[in-house]
Amino acid sequence: MNWEPLLAAALAVRDHSHSPYSQFAVGAAVETESGEIFSGANVENRSYGVTLCAERSAFAAAVSAGHRRFGGVAIATASSPPAPPCGICRETMTEFCEPEMPILLCNPQGERRLTTLGELFPEPFRFAAGETSSA
Ligand code: THU
Repeated sequence: MNWEPLLAAALAVRDHSHSPYSQFAVGAAVETESGEIFSGANVENRSYGVTLCAERSAFAAAVSAGHRRFGGVAIATASSPPAPPCGICRETMTEFCEPEMPILLCNPQGERRLTTLGELFPEPFRFAAGETSSA
């Protein structure tokens, strides 16, 4: 997998973060199975709980364009080491991605951590609607 375009997209979209309350800008970029890239930044709100994370922003854009299968995700923060995604975003990714999906955490300082969705979130909630048992 060529990470450079995805990495660049995550770092670039981070500049559009609307984060006046936390001052914590996040950028995320997801690559579809067909090789297209969709990106999103975190969008905060004065009613703090309304805030949308960058990862869900990127997935919402990709899914809204009709995509359902993804090859990788890059997430950019200024943290050192680069920050991993929150629990809600991990659960969101499990809706569309296999545990093997690679996730590259990065920051503008050049630090990188390559992980997978399964490593970050080994036991997602996976019941389909209507199921009463995981058996
Ligand atoms: N944030 C994300 O965009 N993604 C995450 O996975 C964790 C947190 C945002 C939400 C909020 O705007 C800021 O980071 C601080 O929590």
